[in-house]
Amino acid sequence: MKNKLLWQLCAFIAVGTVLLFWAIAWLTNHTETSMSFIDDAHQEELYAYGKRAEYIYLHEGEGALAAYLEHIKEEEDTWVAVVNSQMTAFANTRLLDDYTERFQLGRSPEWKVHLYFAENPVMEVPFVDEHTHFLIQLPQRMRPGSLLLITRLALQIALPLIILSVLSFMLYRRVMTPLKQLEKATREFTDGNLDARAAVTMSKRNDELTALAKTFDNMAERTSSLIYNQRSLLADLSHELRTPLARMDMAIDFVEQDMQREQALNRLRYEAGTMRELVEDTLTFAWLSTESPRLNTDDFDLVELINVICDDARFEYPDRVLESITPDQAVIVKSSQLALGQALENILRNALRHTPEKGKVTLTLTDENNQYQIVIADEGNGVPESMLSAIFEPFFRVDTARAASNYVHATKRSGFGLGLALAKRQIEAIGGSILARNKHEAQDVSSGLEVSITLLRESKAS
Ligand SMILES: Nc1ncnc2c1ncn2[C@@H]1O[C@H](COP(=O)(O)OP(=O)(O)OP(=O)(O)O)[C@@H](O)[C@H]1O
Ligand SMILES: [Mg+2]
Repeated sequence: MKNKLLWQLCAFIAVGTVLLFWAIAWLTNHTETSMSFIDDAHQEELYAYGKRAEYIYLHEGEGALAAYLEHIKEEEDTWVAVVNSQMTAFANTRLLDDYTERFQLGRSPEWKVHLYFAENPVMEVPFVDEHTHFLIQLPQRMRPGSLLLITRLALQIALPLIILSVLSFMLYRRVMTPLKQLEKATREFTDGNLDARAAVTMSKRNDELTALAKTFDNMAERTSSLIYNQRSLLADLSHELRTPLARMDMAIDFVEQDMQREQALNRLRYEAGTMRELVEDTLTFAWLSTESPRLNTDDFDLVELINVICDDARFEYPDRVLESITPDQAVIVKSSQLALGQALENILRNALRHTPEKGKVTLTLTDENNQYQIVIADEGNGVPESMLSAIFEPFFRVDTARAASNYVHATKRSGFGLGLALAKRQIEAIGGSILARNKHEAQDVSSGLEVSITLLRESKAS
């Protein structure tokens, strides 16, 4: 789902807020209701007053009742009366004015009491005859809802504060946990741990923050592989430089001792050239693999380019047969003549070098479905199947001993193992691809290597 985190946060906040309001309203209502009843012990006291009044009235007469009522009045600091159903007060008592106005008797002690009236309500305990009623204005000490203010403060301020704090903390954790993991991975990566990754630690999630972690991981992956590749390239380059440097040291010694001066100077020139070539090829390779540039400046005829390269190769390897099968013309658009030329030269030189004397190398160019395919097949020993992709790695050479025996003729130095690695990056830079496979005439016996290059007629590279 898109914007998953956004929806989660919306749902969390919206549902949480609605639930909070509902809970506060319900709790306020519920506690107010439960607070609106007179305490059981007080109810019993009120009934006891009524019963006692009735007893005194029946057994001791109105005078004694009047004295008793006066006693309650003083004790509870309230209003007390005994009336009959015709609303006539007796026993030396009188009705309250508004009570007479409302023309009704008091409330039973079990009834709910309104908490917001300024005046305490009048409670009624009927006598057994049901025509006589003991009335008492609820004494202040019995009035329910004394904790109302505190409860309201707790429900309307403390409760939302607590719940909102908990919700905020949960939200904070939801958002911050992956961010902290990301921060940790970034710190580790900055401190030099190139294997530090963020997304693995949040495998259960799938939202905007995991997308961020995956982007970080992709970046870390690319950066670390670039660093590893550069490191190993540098190590290989320094290793390769050791041999020409040692030979140069020897040549310098010869020159210093005035021995074989001419030969030594030639050796120095040759080794310097080798080193220059090695460094240039390595730098070009490093540039192509780190920058992955798109080379798309030239439109040219592929057949013309192939003919020039083949002529040079025939001149270089006169004792091998090089056959090229091409159409009359093969125009390629938005490509790079230099890059493709160098790549083809490298591959063709490999093929000729690995083919025995009088052997044949065939270059075939076909034009199909908006694509050109160039296949260069030789008659050498091929490459062990397990190494078919490794030969495109820089400084990789198949078993040097075996290779040496195949080098029937070599006008140039033996290779650095950079040619195919460079060729692959150059071909990719013009939007093409390259593949190597062994030709098999008999099972398991290679009858030569076949390198296929596929190129788009018009490179999509921008
Ligand atoms: N046509 C081929 N037949 C057999 N083995 C090959 C062929 N082409 C390449 N290889 C093997 O693949 C390895 C890598 O080739 P690559 O062209 O990259 O390096 P190189 O030819 O050794 O040196 P460089 O091209 O830098 O001068 C070679 O060392 C060789 O062992
Ligand atoms: Mg080569």
